[in-house]
Amino acid sequence: MGQQKHHTPEFFWNDNMTLLPWNEHKNSPAIGTVICAESEIPKIGGKAFSFGDAKEVFRMFIIRDENELRAYINGCTHFSGTPLNPNEVGNFLDSNDPTLIYCGVHGSRFLLSTGACVSGDCDGEGLQPVPINVSNGQVIIG
Ligand code: FES
Repeated sequence: MGQQKHHTPEFFWNDNMTLLPWNEHKNSPAIGTVICAESEIPKIGGKAFSFGDAKEVFRMFIIRDENELRAYINGCTHFSGTPLNPNEVGNFLDSNDPTLIYCGVHGSRFLLSTGACVSGDCDGEGLQPVPINVSNGQVIIG
């Protein structure tokens, strides 16, 4: 049984307590925003990015899934969108199973390929994907 969820509607959830789509978050990057060079994403694990100031920061991470890149909001569904990499430590992967994303706060695990919650306090609620594509070696929102 998971711990109680700590919902913060104005940040992470809408009034019906469903997850906000990525592009309804404050400071989410616009379609077409260049995030980084593809080569900046590690061969194993992911890299965090943030937009906006500390009060209304939009956090996301990009992670390698074999030959593809995936992007998710860097906010755990268990605890008000808390970053999965506390103190910016960790590469977002479960060290015991590299097909899973790991939340370093309380240990929830999510499928790398879809963000679906597979165990822990995420309690069935998956990560929010952010659409990206790669063009000319650049990772771009969209
Ligand atoms: S914040 Fe609790 S499992 Fe992620």
